[in-house]
Amino acid sequence: MIEVKDVEKSFSDSKILKGITTTFETGKTNLIIGQSGSGKTVLLKSLLGIHHPEVGTISFDGRIYSSLNDDEKRELRTEIGMVFQGSALFDSMSVAENVAFPLKMFTNKSKSEIKDRVDFVLKRVNLIDAHHKLPSEISGGMQKRVAIARAIVNNPKYLFCDEPNSGLDPNTSILIDNLIKEITEEYNITTVINTHDMNSVMEIGEKILFLKNGVKAWEGTKEEIFRTDNEAVVAFVYSSNLFKKVREAYLKE
Ligand SMILES: Nc1ncnc2c1ncn2[C@@H]1O[C@H](COP(=O)(O)OP(=O)(O)OP(=O)(O)O)[C@@H](O)[C@H]1O
Ligand SMILES: [Mg+2]
Repeated sequence: MIEVKDVEKSFSDSKILKGITTTFETGKTNLIIGQSGSGKTVLLKSLLGIHHPEVGTISFDGRIYSSLNDDEKRELRTEIGMVFQGSALFDSMSVAENVAFPLKMFTNKSKSEIKDRVDFVLKRVNLIDAHHKLPSEISGGMQKRVAIARAIVNNPKYLFCDEPNSGLDPNTSILIDNLIKEITEEYNITTVINTHDMNSVMEIGEKILFLKNGVKAWEGTKEEIFRTDNEAVVAFVYSSNLFKKVREAYLKE
């Protein structure tokens, strides 16, 4: 479990995260939603240790990040897998080399152990014949699967995904969402996903944190999001007529 307590983060004069307190649960897909500019990426990068909040604490299964020494921070970093917005694969490396990269960087595994593990995770994300292809030679959905394979190759305890289905068609988006959810449950990972996508909320929103201008405006589950009267949530989520109708139908049941 990741516990975020009173976290504040500013850049120059502007406060971006304004006292965020929440928990991200183990074995669950925890979503951060909110309008563009609400602070989702800043919060995710704070979890990742790229940004350092001036106030508050972030603890990973009891380990308070800011209290760890450099070795402990490095150790924690090896327990985190990250899927960056836009996949961020290395263009000049093959799919297999991309996935092997964290193992070469962070572990002392032998060549054959690395090969076995790369084969295993590529198979897990349903990519079987793509080992030798370059990222430019595969589709956007396949690139996301490579990014997920790379993020889980070192058996992470924590998996962070920034807009994992941006740029994908609705069907592929749902496949990617469900893949992340399955992997989260299978390996009991604490997964945090930034998303704009209401389909993702409906599909995999086991825990949802809604940010508005850097403030926690609401949190709950996908079932609760249908029932809430919270004005900020209703304005954000149900700005679409389709979801308004879905909500009305759900509430009638
Ligand atoms: N490194 C930085 N330096 C200064 N300001 C920043 C920095 N990173 C983010 N910000 C500001 O913080 C605010 C929140 O940005 P953030 O990227 O977290 O939004 P977001 O919710 O992820 O939006 P989107 O949905 O568009 O990805 C924005 O106003 C942004 O300009
Ligand atoms: Mg963002």
